[in-house]
Amino acid sequence: MKGIILAGGSGTRLHPVTKAVSKQLLPIYDKPMIYYPLSTLMLAGIREILLITTPHDQASFQRLLGDGSSLGIEISYVIQESPNGLAYALILGEEFLAGDKCVLILGDNLFYGSGLGTQLQRNYDVDGALIFAYQVEDPTAYGVVEFDDDGRVLSLEEKPEAPKSHFAVPGIYFYDEEAPQLARTLTPSQRGELEITALNNAYLERGSLRVEKLPRSTTWLDTGTHESLYEASGLIRTLQHRSGLRIGDVTQIARDAGWITA
Ligand code: TTP
Repeated sequence: MKGIILAGGSGTRLHPVTKAVSKQLLPIYDKPMIYYPLSTLMLAGIREILLITTPHDQASFQRLLGDGSSLGIEISYVIQESPNGLAYALILGEEFLAGDKCVLILGDNLFYGSGLGTQLQRNYDVDGALIFAYQVEDPTAYGVVEFDDDGRVLSLEEKPEAPKSHFAVPGIYFYDEEAPQLARTLTPSQRGELEITALNNAYLERGSLRVEKLPRSTTWLDTGTHESLYEASGLIRTLQHRSGLRIGDVTQIARDAGWITA
């Protein structure tokens, strides 16, 4: 299983802050944002990771993370010339994947909760696609899943004005080896992007999309607005102060996993 982190995008909701700096390099309390999705992949046991960035930010990410060897992992880099959508990551990652299955995670998504690593590891051998559903007050900014009474998926809609449920799709997706090929069959949406919801809908139409509800003990934050960035920093600060434990500390995770030594 390989991992892809999408850390391009234009970050317009965070302007002017992100005019000069990549969103994913901004601090969430005491670490760069990218550490959080990277740590989620590492906790899932993934050690081969592709980082997708904009052309001008790639050098900064390389300064921060290098080739990953200081964390006992392998990080490769690829450039996304323009923010043409999340599903485009599978096309950009095709060569890196070389026919393997993958987990795609968004560089501005933060997951925290007990047993998350184990829950992710359980899904290593995904057949088709696996995505998650998480209950939020306002799902209109996300993909939204509608379930029937037996928990079967009825529909999946991108940023609906009138959402059919409160279940949003968080930015972590498991795909089998067919994802790059399927992504190539998609047509761009009205806003000119290859939508991840379109890719997930393609799997749904083939009858090979699974949706797992994330337990409420898992915290999921997307940190793409000033408000959510501030909230996420406060949350990490509070949790770390209270418990003395560190969240998203990639060096500590690598050491605990035995991938590097002290
Ligand atoms: P978004 O938050 O949807 O987009 P954005 O980062 O460009 O921000 P804004 O909406 O404020 O303009 O992106 C989700 C994540 O995916 C984020 O980490 C950036 C990344 N991304 C890419 O890497 N490439 C893309 O083409 C897009 C659209 C997003």
